[in-house]
Amino acid sequence: MTHKAWWKESVVYQIYPRSFNDSNGDGIGDIKGITEKLDYLKDLGVDVIWLSPVYKSPNDDNGYDIADYHAIMDEFGTMSDWEELLDEIHQRDMKLIMDLVVNHSSDEHQWFQESRKSKDNAYRDYYIWRPGKDGKEPNNWESNFGGSAWEYDEKTGEYYLHLFSKKQPDLNWENPKLRQEIYDMMKWWLDKGIDGFRMDVINFISKIPGLPDAPNPEGKNYVTGKNYFRNGPRIHEFLHEMHEEVLSHYDVMTVGEMPGVKVNEAKKYTNPEREELQMVFQFEHMGLDNGPNGKWDLKPLDLRDLKESISRWQNGLQGVGWNSLYLNNHDQPRIVSRFGNDQEYRVESAKMLGTFLHMLQGTPYIYQGEEIGMTNVKFDSIDDYRDIEILNMYKEKVEEEGADPDKVMESIYEKGRDNGRTPFQWDASENAGFTTGEPWMKVNPNYKQINAAQAVADDDSVYHYYRQLIALRKNHPIIVYGDYELILPDDEKIYAYMRSFKGEKLLVVTNFSEENVSFELPHDVSFEAKEMLISNYMNDTSEDYRTFALKPYEARVYKGV
Ligand code: NOJ
Repeated sequence: MTHKAWWKESVVYQIYPRSFNDSNGDGIGDIKGITEKLDYLKDLGVDVIWLSPVYKSPNDDNGYDIADYHAIMDEFGTMSDWEELLDEIHQRDMKLIMDLVVNHSSDEHQWFQESRKSKDNAYRDYYIWRPGKDGKEPNNWESNFGGSAWEYDEKTGEYYLHLFSKKQPDLNWENPKLRQEIYDMMKWWLDKGIDGFRMDVINFISKIPGLPDAPNPEGKNYVTGKNYFRNGPRIHEFLHEMHEEVLSHYDVMTVGEMPGVKVNEAKKYTNPEREELQMVFQFEHMGLDNGPNGKWDLKPLDLRDLKESISRWQNGLQGVGWNSLYLNNHDQPRIVSRFGNDQEYRVESAKMLGTFLHMLQGTPYIYQGEEIGMTNVKFDSIDDYRDIEILNMYKEKVEEEGADPDKVMESIYEKGRDNGRTPFQWDASENAGFTTGEPWMKVNPNYKQINAAQAVADDDSVYHYYRQLIALRKNHPIIVYGDYELILPDDEKIYAYMRSFKGEKLLVVTNFSEENVSFELPHDVSFEAKEMLISNYMNDTSEDYRTFALKPYEARVYKGV
């Protein structure tokens, strides 16, 4: 039995502040810039804004390295700018959730500055320090951004753990004092009136005791050790404690980012009876176009894999927990370039992908620019890229391993995180209206054709289609609460599914290919259509809904019984 909740009925919009809107001409998006655009978001119809980190940070990882959890980053403005933003959001009847980055802090955080001073410093155990082993790192784990996950610190002659960059030391959740500091900080923000948290790599906070070496039977030079720090032995205990101490006292929304999480684990994290989180961001569908050597190893998507994976999540959490639904964020390439066609069928495929996602069971997340069909970018030179993950990978592959730079650039064009981080394209003026200064990262050269002003003015745009998708959710509870059932599991081009709720049904049919294909409703599916709720083509509504021809990237949703 699925319980009703406001956060299940909401649509979330993610803002990556650095790239959203620059109000003061320094080339960097800022908080006042966001406030200026709230009416745009309200018109789109979204309910909740998730703000990627805006805290004080040296920006080694664009704010995911926090130096002060209680202060705003200088480039983004002041605390009073932020308070004004929150107030303006609430005045428009929207909500704000903040990014909570507590697996690690910045090495410039005062805790770490103290921690590294001496082995008996009061903050030593806020981080994970170990002596070397036989003159080498304490274990063989690799950082998510390449190289060892350990950094030697001369002052005390020990190593500290950093699962991301060496400027992002991991916090030690085994230490109850550290946990209490985090809970107090969370309350401090909640008492300011925010409406919840998106929690960064939150399933990494419990590491396996003893921090053993990860197995490496094939002698590869790349060892993630990921099973040793993901969903570790105390993770449920920590999240439950966080719920008791903090979250249970507020009516808020929580979503935990969890690389590598499986459905069975997610059931535990999101089952309300266990009092941990409401939703997780899982990654399975984002890894389906990875080859055997990971993200940079390119492989085309097989639609049957997407169906198998999404259906397992839909069925697995149904009636137990709750899904988060996303195809884009600041760590992913643009979906229209990835699973759609960003050339001839950009508008059609962007709408089709939106339909596919928004009709599933769960809370949909829209990432800035998705609603106008922004695409991946191809900068000629590596010097135009800004992301630490891209730059480290390029250096490692090209400079250290001698790989062909053109090949490496190809994989950056397909998978690099900067694809999602180019400045938001507001209009056709210089720098896409994002800034009057020099943007911190170049704007995608296609901004003259693809921008919000154009999209708002064109009734047939991706933007207006997203508005419709969002509005439909408000008027048809079946879209939020209906049960999910996959049909045509083996079709390589069509993804079709049914939803059902209180005697009503939805039929969702999406063509993931650029070919004309024919759809046939399986005989054993009982469905009688009453109306077509939405489609990305002009269709003859009297056409038989049981068999019809689908145009390239066509999507249709029928409602009936
Ligand atoms: C996940 C965030 O989404 C990503 O941008 C960041 O680099 C890592 N966590 C480390 O905080």
